[in-house]
Amino acid sequence: MKLKNDLIIKACKRLPTERTPIWIMRQAGRYLPEYRAIRSKHDFLTMCKTPELAAEVTIQPVDIIGVDAAIIFSDILVIPEAMGMHLRIHEGRGPVFSNPINSSEDLRKLRNPDPGKDLKYVMDAISLTKKELNGRVPIIGFAGAPWTILTYMVEGHGSKTFSKVKKMIYGNPELAHKLLDKITTTTAAYLSAQIEAGANLVQIFDTWSGILSPRDYQVFALRYVYQLIKDIKRKDEPVIYFPKGVHYLFHELKECGADAISVDWTLELSKVRRKIGDKVAIQGNLDPTVLYSEPPFIKREARKVLESFGKGDGHIFNLGHGILPDIDPENVKALVNYVKEESGQFHLLY
Ligand code: CP3
Repeated sequence: MKLKNDLIIKACKRLPTERTPIWIMRQAGRYLPEYRAIRSKHDFLTMCKTPELAAEVTIQPVDIIGVDAAIIFSDILVIPEAMGMHLRIHEGRGPVFSNPINSSEDLRKLRNPDPGKDLKYVMDAISLTKKELNGRVPIIGFAGAPWTILTYMVEGHGSKTFSKVKKMIYGNPELAHKLLDKITTTTAAYLSAQIEAGANLVQIFDTWSGILSPRDYQVFALRYVYQLIKDIKRKDEPVIYFPKGVHYLFHELKECGADAISVDWTLELSKVRRKIGDKVAIQGNLDPTVLYSEPPFIKREARKVLESFGKGDGHIFNLGHGILPDIDPENVKALVNYVKEESGQFHLLY
């Protein structure tokens, strides 16, 4: 099926577009009253595992906010769950695994899931969303990067100090590498299956890459991202990599195989573009908390992001991290409309 709006695909390939495309990380979620209405009737994981519900909330931000892509409603933690870990999403506390990994015995107990079968509900949600979207916008598939998934598997939940996973990489690096290897293999099969099911591009979320030293980031995170991207079976579906908090190793980042690198708001887009823009597209990077403000301020800040990237193609507008649950949807609409209306002047095509 031909896409009616393929701006994001073109931008990922740094091809000319008439304006800058925009989508919002975590755009399907609690800041939307329409999401909360469905969520009040169903448990989060039930929503992920019921393709009709997942498709409905996936399409909500396309209809309500007007974004240029739909990201499939799911979670990065469905991979460890498919490996046999017991996942619960606690109200207020976030995700919790009751049986975190701590030994080679725990590793031995992990299943080797076949994502095409064990995560078939994600593929079904993608196919159904695709049918319902009827080519209006591309569908983004996604997964967590191996390092970020490892942190949740070892910590059992979010953490401030990441003591357990750090203890593992320093005290038992062999076990950490075995786990990372296993996660990488499963995630490559998982993203390949999402593309096969109809995802037009995929994003790899490395939410916790910024807690590592540059050397450890290379050894325990980036190396597996190279492997992962190499192993994804795809034709020309772009890959976006989001290494949150990484402000260095630009040369390695641009060679990791991703078509686009997503950056947080602590970096200047103009600098990032100078360093890697000759090889990859760049996504980002409005500070998500700017959306707490009023539309005139939001528009000024959005303009600064557009100006920092400057004239030319290869920019996908996004926040520097996920949208927060207490943001007013009207502000998000104001941002999306502004980027759609004003970004044309940064492109040379028309
Ligand atoms: O972007 C989207 O709209 C698609 C859906 C999506 C979710 N999680 C739904 C979700 C995506 C892309 C994710 C990714 C994800 N999940 C990440 C990486 C991105 C990031 O923000 O860094 C991480 C670290 C997770 C793990 C996770 N899942 C956390 C930390 C939480 C709790 C915190 C929170 O935001 O609520 C979840 C639960 C979760 N995943 C919710 C949603 C909509 C909230 C569940 C609810 O409705 O109660």
